[in-house]
Amino acid sequence: MASRIIKPDIYSIGIIDWDRTLFDEIISLPEGTTYNSFLIHGSEKTALIDTSDPSKKHEFLSNIKKMDLNIDYVVSHHAEQDHSGLIPDVLNLYPEAKIITNPKCKELLKELLLIDDNRFITVDDGETLSLGNKTLKFFYTPWVHWPETMVSYIEEDKILFSCDFFGSHLATSDLYVDDESLVYRAAKRYYAEIMMPFRLFIQKNIEKLKDLEMDIIAPGHGPLYKNPQFILDAYKDWISNETKNKVIVPYVSMHGSTRELSDHLVNRLIEEGITVKPFNLTTADTGDLALALVDASTLVIATPTVLTGPHPSAVYAAYLVNALRPKLKFVSIIGSYGWGGRTVDLLKGFLTNLKAEIIEPVIIKGFPKNDDWKRIDNLAMQIVMKHKEMNLID
Ligand code: FEO
Repeated sequence: MASRIIKPDIYSIGIIDWDRTLFDEIISLPEGTTYNSFLIHGSEKTALIDTSDPSKKHEFLSNIKKMDLNIDYVVSHHAEQDHSGLIPDVLNLYPEAKIITNPKCKELLKELLLIDDNRFITVDDGETLSLGNKTLKFFYTPWVHWPETMVSYIEEDKILFSCDFFGSHLATSDLYVDDESLVYRAAKRYYAEIMMPFRLFIQKNIEKLKDLEMDIIAPGHGPLYKNPQFILDAYKDWISNETKNKVIVPYVSMHGSTRELSDHLVNRLIEEGITVKPFNLTTADTGDLALALVDASTLVIATPTVLTGPHPSAVYAAYLVNALRPKLKFVSIIGSYGWGGRTVDLLKGFLTNLKAEIIEPVIIKGFPKNDDWKRIDNLAMQIVMKHKEMNLID
């Protein structure tokens, strides 16, 4: 794809990956993605901001060559290969070019991409780099989403280059956000999958950037924000401690008993005015599950007991939820067993990262009977009461 001008002498030269369906071999990309890269042509020096995924080597290097500019610096915000993977190829094309990054990122780039030590210049948090008539200022923003992540800001043009921070996996020909509702969902899903485990770090990093005057936020994935407040406000909501009147019910059932319990609970909660999102774990997309967890108050995992423990699909879901560390306030487990097992203890063991109160699980024998329905009703009412105590229900 051809380059596009963002502001005079600042170009977007990244790649749209319309076809990518999976990231890190786990994150589904229903809408593809982009690997954004930018070229800043200062009056004295030219800097490339990040590169692209190695799978797009030919297209990316072609984009750079078409610009017909000598690259003096390659700013590397983040060592993950979808941004850094083509740095060695750029260094080969421009033998005098230096990588500008922080010491942690330098070490990772050396380990991951086998780049020589003498190609690096490290910058401190808050340090600036003059390109002549344009000045880049660097801010360390650790854990969005690796320990070495940082962002940079052009003082003269008020553009924040944020790499993964504020990004979205969305292949689009729009350079800037056009449909805010579309981008909101993509950015929220991206936050859920990548950023949510680091919510408290994000709070600090947003605070650190709050006094910057921003005309544009240019992330490493997805369209750029000409209205930065849109994504800043969304992030403030997602990283806050507040949750919504929402219950997530990931379920799996082998012969229908657990499904009956799950359906009964879901319906009771709906009748009580709670937003409920069940996920059939045999077909659910993990990105959709992650997205739903961003602001849910309560999680109820529904699983049968199989081979003395939870169904493996429920184990996977619990492991994922635990790793993503959503701000859930309450968790429970429901399910059916045939002759015994340790389902509850085993599942609880996968949820130790959560700072959530456990509401007494409901585990029944066989198909649900009179008392079992009452126990599910009781669980529903406990959830309603908890949500009322949090003023989530009038
Ligand atoms: Fe887009 Fe963490 O890489």
